[in-house]
Amino acid sequence: MRWPSWRVRAWSKRCTGGAGSSDSASDRASTSLNGVHDVAWARELARELLEEPLPRRWRHSIGVAAKAESVSSVVGQDADVLVCSAWLHDIGYSPDLAVTGFHPLDGARYLRDVVGAGELLCRLVAHHSCACIEAGNRGLGEELAAEFAPVEGILTDALTFADMTTSPDGAPVEVDTRLAEIFARYGDGHLVAESMKEARPRIEQAERAVRAALAG
Ligand SMILES: [Fe+2]
Repeated sequence: MRWPSWRVRAWSKRCTGGAGSSDSASDRASTSLNGVHDVAWARELARELLEEPLPRRWRHSIGVAAKAESVSSVVGQDADVLVCSAWLHDIGYSPDLAVTGFHPLDGARYLRDVVGAGELLCRLVAHHSCACIEAGNRGLGEELAAEFAPVEGILTDALTFADMTTSPDGAPVEVDTRLAEIFARYGDGHLVAESMKEARPRIEQAERAVRAALAG
């Protein structure tokens, strides 16, 4: 077993408890979350995995969730899955579940295999902020795409926008500032920095799409 059994039991109980999984109103309200997960659940799962071992990453996640919430009107009925994905997008950094060392894939696999999260949420986490580019540079591109289909359109743009306009400490920043911090932190030639340079046009396109949707 890759993850402690107590953790699996705890989350299984938490995810299927309460009002149950067949409530038609909650199914309608959060179709893309399979009706059993909601934003409060996502926040608590992220807090449990990140707050103590990675407090800075936890503060970043709080900021990304707030930003996602602030732009959630652009995704219509997918607002809940957007905000959940913002809370959970970096859980793959948690030492409790890091396996490959590529956090989008580790996080998405944990959500799929341990938590039983909805497919769309897993796919968003797997591909957040142009993760396919870094996956390719790590030799994990085919693996990622085979397990999690990319999400196209404004939903994935909104998650990228939220992540790329939030500093590592959770403060709102411009995309240029965010990218400059990443480049400085990793340094020229580092796989992460080079992948983000490659991703930059797509990130900027996502920002334009979200700002246009907000203005429209
Ligand atoms: Fe992030």
